[in-house]
Amino acid sequence: MALISPSDAAHLAVRNGRRLRGRYQLQGLEVSGTAPSAVVRGLRKATLGLPTAEEKAWIQRIELLRSLLLTSPRPLEILDLGAGSAVEADSGVVRTRSVSSRTLGTMTRSSKPPRWAYLLFRLIREVGPVNCLEMGACVGISAAYQAAALELNGGTGRLLSLEGADVLAERSARSLEELGLDGRAELRLGRFSDTLDAALAELRPVDWAFIDGDHQEAGTLAYMEQVLAAAGDEAVLVFDDINWSAGMRSAWRAVVADSRFALTVDLRSVGLAVLSRSATERRDLTISYY
Ligand SMILES: C[S@@+](CC[C@H](N)C(=O)[O-])C[C@H]1O[C@@H](n2cnc3c(N)ncnc32)[C@H](O)[C@@H]1O
Repeated sequence: MALISPSDAAHLAVRNGRRLRGRYQLQGLEVSGTAPSAVVRGLRKATLGLPTAEEKAWIQRIELLRSLLLTSPRPLEILDLGAGSAVEADSGVVRTRSVSSRTLGTMTRSSKPPRWAYLLFRLIREVGPVNCLEMGACVGISAAYQAAALELNGGTGRLLSLEGADVLAERSARSLEELGLDGRAELRLGRFSDTLDAALAELRPVDWAFIDGDHQEAGTLAYMEQVLAAAGDEAVLVFDDINWSAGMRSAWRAVVADSRFALTVDLRSVGLAVLSRSATERRDLTISYY
């Protein structure tokens, strides 16, 4: 992502959706069920609405932190865990394990850009989940957006964020602490294969899961099954990078074909899959959100 000022980034995150085609696709759209309706409201607000002053203040604080991290020359030694790098992935694909040297600034670029992080925020504001999971924290930017939404929601909502690289887990925990969000979100260090079961046992019933780690087909579908086994009656699963590779496109097709979901939304780079016991019909949508 190009370097921009925090206030410009905050503006980008929430810019009025008049230019977004999704605005027209969402107009008058009705879906059945509690969680699906909340998701559609969240999408509509993300493309059409403006945040309140309180919401904007959180976004600006997080974007200020992002801009500081983006310019950091601090070297980091990172054990690569995700797809696209030399990894021994959880999904069983064994490649050469590597430790790479990068800077905090370059690692921060793997964070969801403002507009997509804002979408997570908007959805959590509408869905009102209590037990939330994130797989893949990086430096804590998306965790901060989700935690800020939980904070604004009030209540007991909390996020457990799983991260396998120790320097990143440390940095994410610090990001949350610096933002005053450590009461809402907690980091768990370790590979998903070692941390996911315990996190799900703690969160059960899971209301929200943002799956943004090992971007491989088998791993993504296996995590989905684990999350679904712990999910509540109304739950939202957010899959990142559904168009990143042939494998991820195939994983997303499997999600869309899965009749357990009452609603799926293809946002091109992100996919939403919604469980809803209260829904009386199933919908699959494709919405332009960029
Ligand atoms: C794309 S980044 C996450 C970005 C973050 N969600 C954001 O938007 O701010 C993916 C993260 O997942 C972690 N990761 C990938 N595979 C993992 C695994 N199998 N176990 C634990 N962490 C993993 C990586 O170390 C990396 O920090």
